Amino acid sequence: MKFFIDTADIDEIKEAMSWGCLAGVTTNPSLYARTGGKLADFEGHMLKIAEICEGLPVSAESQSKTTEGMVEDGRRLSALAPNIVVKLPICAESLAATHTLAAEGVRINMTLVFSPTQALLAANAGARYISPFVGRFDDIAEDGVQQLANVVACVQNYDWSGKNVDDEVEIITASVRTPNHVTQAALLGADIATVPFGALKKCLKHPLTDQGMASFDADWAKVVAAQ
Ligand code: E4P
Repeated sequence: MKFFIDTADIDEIKEAMSWGCLAGVTTNPSLYARTGGKLADFEGHMLKIAEICEGLPVSAESQSKTTEGMVEDGRRLSALAPNIVVKLPICAESLAATHTLAAEGVRINMTLVFSPTQALLAANAGARYISPFVGRFDDIAEDGVQQLANVVACVQNYDWSGKNVDDEVEIITASVRTPNHVTQAALLGADIATVPFGALKKCLKHPLTDQGMASFDADWAKVVAAQ
């Protein structure tokens, strides 16, 4: 399973990129707002992320509510850099926009997906990526991992050749809160998990690793002292 980072923060992206295990970036309006970014700087900021990511897919979200507006945003955002993926929230308007944009070779990440039927509609319309949300189900005391399992199974039942420019649909596990969400997504065979930087750092840590390093340090100090 591939790791994307779920942030619009340049420093976080740079640090995660330096680890060498990042395969893409997802942003959303909330994440951009969190950087303190202004409307006029939005596209420049997306371009900067796309350049830092050296060809890896970077999702930039349209805020339009109409099909025409989404198509216009999609054309403009995707023209910024070849690795920009246009993120649209699942609805009738975005399905129509996806159909138009996918035919033009634009990659779409369909977001705010909470059901297999939404995912199947998005894939049929031409979405390149589908983002089912896990954590927001957990927030309302429902089993987000089971919901993800249903989406993964339904999408992976079919061949999506001819539906988008890459002839494939990848599932991005979104709304990830914990390392366990990442593990469960991988066990289910989800293609990608997009993980906030805080959760990504938690994925890297284990108390037994820290304990092991501390004991190696202590024993190595004895070796050095014995010289
Ligand atoms: C990613 O594409 C989504 O926008 C993001 O994972 C949503 O996460 P949240 O539920 O923590 O806002």
